[in-house]
Amino acid sequence: MKILVTGGTGYIGSHTVVELLSKGHECVIVDNLYNSSEKVLDRIKEITGIRPLFYRTDIRDKEALREIFKENGFEAVIHFAGLKAVGESVVKPLEYYENNISGSLNLYELMKEYKVNKLVFSSSATVYGDSFKSPLKEEYGRGRTTNPYGTTKAMNEMIIEDYGKADKDLSAVILRYFNPVGAHKSGLIGERPNGIPNNLMPYISDVVVGKLDHLNVFGNDYDTKDGTGVRDYIHVVDLAKAHVAAIEYADGHKGVEIINVGTGTGYSVLDIIKAYEKACGREIPYVITDRRPGDIATCFADPKKAEELLGFKTEMDIEDMCRDAYNFICKNPNGIE
Ligand code: NAD
Ligand code: UFG
Repeated sequence: MKILVTGGTGYIGSHTVVELLSKGHECVIVDNLYNSSEKVLDRIKEITGIRPLFYRTDIRDKEALREIFKENGFEAVIHFAGLKAVGESVVKPLEYYENNISGSLNLYELMKEYKVNKLVFSSSATVYGDSFKSPLKEEYGRGRTTNPYGTTKAMNEMIIEDYGKADKDLSAVILRYFNPVGAHKSGLIGERPNGIPNNLMPYISDVVVGKLDHLNVFGNDYDTKDGTGVRDYIHVVDLAKAHVAAIEYADGHKGVEIINVGTGTGYSVLDIIKAYEKACGREIPYVITDRRPGDIATCFADPKKAEELLGFKTEMDIEDMCRDAYNFICKNPNGIE
């Protein structure tokens, strides 16, 4: 299939492009490089032998995006482009709604105009909010979101559902990711956020390479096995493969499906520290601090629907995730420059 990948130079997008190319799909990337580098294209070429066609374009620029649709004749869209920092979204809500909603609406309108009926959208387990007990099942619906970023994901889900109700040709798969971590085994692509990382795994990586002094563990008084927060970490290459399965599923079906992408297993912060220590062969200094506002105790997926509908099952475990995160940060301590 000829697939438009928005946000395709980003963390999850680049890994997905690699998996799509390896399955013989053609990818065209649109990204404004707000949170990624054009160098990712060289890295994709190093891994796959193919340098995908790239447009440095903002999806909010509808005319520019229309030209890209006109020139290309896409069969499908995988939509990653968006802003994703939870804390920042609280401070800059309008920027988040503008980017993640207006940009997405442009894209969906052009899909309709150019009769591109297959869509995979990046949603998040954050749409369950704090309303339900893990394992989280798709049928629970959406809970109360706790920040504007999460609300943009819930709103996109609703927009796609309504679009699908009105347009019976639409075939959309909304993937609710749990916690993507790790990197491609080559160490050529991966994630190294700008500034001080917010998320656990990139933060630990920075501690391990000596950029940060120690990890703050946000609370050890949760109702979990060791008191620290429990999450469903998924290797980014497994997640990328879920997109290949989803777009191929969309090729043969109509309607809108919402599907969790997680392993179904929860690990605590202390579990992750231990696994990372094993991967890097040294001790990771940490201190227990207060809870981070907005965090929940436990969040993990029921992954059955992905297996039933997409035939998708994760293959990599926590050791693979830590090994590959460590390999990437050692090779790219300052990110992909
Ligand atoms: P990322 O920031 O690495 O990738 C997003 C890409 O989109 C970046 O390359 C950025 O430059 C681009 N972009 C942003 N706004 C754009 C715009 N207006 N026009 C064109 N390009 C634009 O993030 P990621 O971790 O790869 O996440 C991809 C998607 O998955 C996002 O929608 C994110 O919200 C979602 N998601 C991520 C996680 C996670 O933990 N990483 C969890 C759940 C959902
Ligand atoms: N944590 C620490 N110290 C840190 C960072 C995190 O102890 O420096 C803990 C958190 O308290 C939590 C766990 O590590 O218990 C995971 O935290 P992350 O920030 O890595 O991930 P979250 O589960 O909080 O958030 C992630 C994504 C969000 C998404 C959410 C639900 O970052 O975008 O999963 O899918 F909305």
